[in-house]
Amino acid sequence: MDQSLHALLTELYEFGRANDTANSDRSRKMLNITPDTGEFLELLVNAIGAERILEIGTSNGYSTLWLANAVRATGGRVTTVEMSDYKLGLARANFLRSGLASFIELVHRDAGDYLKQPSLSPFDLVFLDSERDQYVGWWPSLKKAIRAGGLLVVDNALSHPLEVRDFIALVRSDSSFLTSLVPIGNGEFLALRRAG
Ligand SMILES: C[S@@+](CC[C@H](N)C(=O)[O-])C[C@H]1O[C@@H](n2cnc3c(N)ncnc32)[C@H](O)[C@@H]1O
Repeated sequence: MDQSLHALLTELYEFGRANDTANSDRSRKMLNITPDTGEFLELLVNAIGAERILEIGTSNGYSTLWLANAVRATGGRVTTVEMSDYKLGLARANFLRSGLASFIELVHRDAGDYLKQPSLSPFDLVFLDSERDQYVGWWPSLKKAIRAGGLLVVDNALSHPLEVRDFIALVRSDSSFLTSLVPIGNGEFLALRRAG
């Protein structure tokens, strides 16, 4: 990673932590992933050579920038979906600052609606980091958005176990996925869609 991107990510992470401590209004919190989760996502993108990446829950774009930096190596692109006007404005400004904007498509939409589009082509990697009570309802369309051999990564699997319990049970009960819970950051639940 180049020094200027590293400095920007450090700045954004520190901003997020200070902001989230100072704000009690959830809609104003950044709720960013941890830096070690960013490294892990970068490793996963490279491990499976992911080119088409979908992120659900952009916030101010901290995790998106980790993914966008990773797709520089794979020649890919990150589509990230966010419904908050406020967060969208922050993310857009951060993408411009990073020099990675050309690797990112920022979609201003409810993720449930986005996933339901019949014409949506499946992705190599989907990073799910949004409102957790929606995940079970999204599963039928989310599943279709992951290609065979593709990977789903779900944040907060250990920090909010009760909130993701039903979703994780649903994915684990699907024999077309291989799953694992990884104790990195806030806990990353991985589900690999079996090839073929
Ligand atoms: C945990 S934050 C994302 C943090 C970000 N991934 C990061 O690590 O920098 C969750 C985000 O999902 C957004 N969100 C919640 N429900 C959504 C929905 N139905 N569609 C799109 N975005 C949604 C929220 O506005 C919030 O910005």
